[in-house]
Amino acid sequence: MTIKATFIGRSILLCSALISLNLAAETLKVASPDGNIVFHVSDDNGLPGYRIDFRGKEVISPSALGLEFKGVEGFVRDLKITDHKKTQQDSTWEQPWGERRLVRDQHNELTVTFARTEKKSSNHFTLRVRVFNDGIGFRYEVPQQKKLADNRQGKIDIIDEKTTFSLPTPEQTKTWWIPSRGWNRYEYLYNTTMLDVVDRVHTPVTFKSSTGVHLSIHEAALVDYAAMTLDQQRNGVLKADLTPWSDGVRVKTQLPFKTPWRTIQIAAEATGLLNSDLILNLNEPNKLGDVSWVEPGKYVGIWWGMHVGTATWGSGEKHGATTAETKRHMDFAAQHGFSGVLVEGWNIGWDGDWYANGDIFSFTKPYPDFNLPEITVYGKSKGVRLIGHHETSGAVTNYKNQMADAFDLYQQHNVAQVKTGYVADGGKIKRIDEQGIVRNEWHDGQFMVGEYLRSVTEAAKRKISINTHEPIKDTGLRRTYPNWIAREGARGQEYNAWGSPPNSAEHTAILPFTRMLSGPMDYTPGIFDLAPYGLAAENRVRSTLAKELSLYVVLYSPIQMVADLLENYEKHTDAFQFIRDVPTDWEESRALAGEVGDYVVFARKERAGEDWYLGALTDEDARKLSVSLDFLSPDKNYEAQIYRDGPDADWKTNPYAMVIEKKTMKRGDTLQLDLATSGGAAIRFKALD
Ligand code: NOJ
Ligand code: CA
Repeated sequence: MTIKATFIGRSILLCSALISLNLAAETLKVASPDGNIVFHVSDDNGLPGYRIDFRGKEVISPSALGLEFKGVEGFVRDLKITDHKKTQQDSTWEQPWGERRLVRDQHNELTVTFARTEKKSSNHFTLRVRVFNDGIGFRYEVPQQKKLADNRQGKIDIIDEKTTFSLPTPEQTKTWWIPSRGWNRYEYLYNTTMLDVVDRVHTPVTFKSSTGVHLSIHEAALVDYAAMTLDQQRNGVLKADLTPWSDGVRVKTQLPFKTPWRTIQIAAEATGLLNSDLILNLNEPNKLGDVSWVEPGKYVGIWWGMHVGTATWGSGEKHGATTAETKRHMDFAAQHGFSGVLVEGWNIGWDGDWYANGDIFSFTKPYPDFNLPEITVYGKSKGVRLIGHHETSGAVTNYKNQMADAFDLYQQHNVAQVKTGYVADGGKIKRIDEQGIVRNEWHDGQFMVGEYLRSVTEAAKRKISINTHEPIKDTGLRRTYPNWIAREGARGQEYNAWGSPPNSAEHTAILPFTRMLSGPMDYTPGIFDLAPYGLAAENRVRSTLAKELSLYVVLYSPIQMVADLLENYEKHTDAFQFIRDVPTDWEESRALAGEVGDYVVFARKERAGEDWYLGALTDEDARKLSVSLDFLSPDKNYEAQIYRDGPDADWKTNPYAMVIEKKTMKRGDTLQLDLATSGGAAIRFKALD
């Protein structure tokens, strides 16, 4: 309620202000359009706070809000709600590429002003809350204001964010999480435990409450701020723990500023999390204008050989990135309809301990056996592009100094996509400051949030898309910068080559409900030689071949690698057909069934066509699923081209056993799936009429 100083006498004004404050505190709540989710905001005892109900039951208990600044009083206590406003929105927007072309943004919004006193000049901030049918988002907006601005010309250091997320009954809340602030960035196997034993975690972190409600906490639109990790304090109370700079400050900002959105996806069923567009809806629209140059597609690469030891990044006899090898890969890509060839190890700097020697990488000088102009001219004649590669080893100042030249070079040579890499231990990014002093930063601190975005916007100027490895976590920025086409940010396929341990059978049954909620992942599926060192070796792909195919549908990315050595596809040309056919860009996507860490089934419809694709996978348990084909168009028959585990398939002993069969099917039919241990199924529904 706005307090207006009109002709009313001062005492009456104060009195009406108090009444309106009390009223406001009692009535400040906002519900989702379907009424299931209710977000309450309060200023009880001068402390800003909130809680959330889902279908009449509390899913977030009273939790704190607030920001603490260095050297000036922030927003922690002695605050009152002095104003609020409600609006609503229901609109649909179009994605240039994605899981679905059209996205509906339907939400109710509440903005609440918290101020120290009723005086207009008093310090204040706005909490903006949006409640959708699939969850909520809120963020802090701190406008220009005199008392704060007087401090250091409007510069503000945030030393703590007070936001908490309190989950009731932590001892009975199942949680899927990876630790934050660890040496391995986001590349941990997920833990499945009750919430009470969790320490400090990355987001998205996913929960199943004792009543069966599914929640996932994350953030949207992380720009010029530190990543939010969550630290468990009292049991069930997860507190925002912003990743600090090397000097301990969490965020260095300037008035006015707004924080990223703090998000909670909420759903009755696990699949509700997968069918949510909350994160994208909370990001700003495309800022790049025409992005028709951003190209989804499939790619092969001079890559897996380095991971299994048949080739090297560095120069010498086993050097992978040669002109001849690249041309061989371009021939293969052209033959099978793939659009790109990734080549790693093409540039000077890989010899010796490349992990430790990031400063010597050149991003413009190729090794002598890699002829960039010859290769790219050859690619053009075949309709295949070279995909560029920049490994920084975390030496980001060295990269920044060469970035413009490096992207210019690629642009001159018809390269439209670059994979970047930031291999360095967590907390060991090398920043050289203004005085020339080396500072060690985290991959998810504010400094790196800015560096990753710099690479994306510099690349956009040259119509180049970026696929970031060892990235900052995704927070939906692909909506604003559609050339940020994919990223890693979890344990990918590479761990099966050398990880200790490799990815577990359940890993890809957890990823959709955790990491993938944030956006596309360059998992690099499609390994056909599942056991390059033998079936009994520790390092191998712990799945069946059919499951490896299912990943192309289950783990969404607009770019998908066809990751194995080319010769391994020749041994299974029948299964390979699915990879040739499957698109990477979709008109529509639906998660049909699933439980976190157990199994998942997705159906997706191709863009500009009538075919549907289905991917199903299971964890270490064999499983029978029956899927009703309600997603198919009512008036059509389809040829279901089914790639499924053979009756005696088993990931450990018999992973290649596969049945490939064709059936005519239509909407209303039920499909019975029989998944082997760590098995899967991949199906193309080809529209017949
Ligand atoms: C780690 C990346 O995830 C992997 O794909 C790449 O091959 C190496 N870094 C080298 O850049
Ligand atoms: Ca990696």
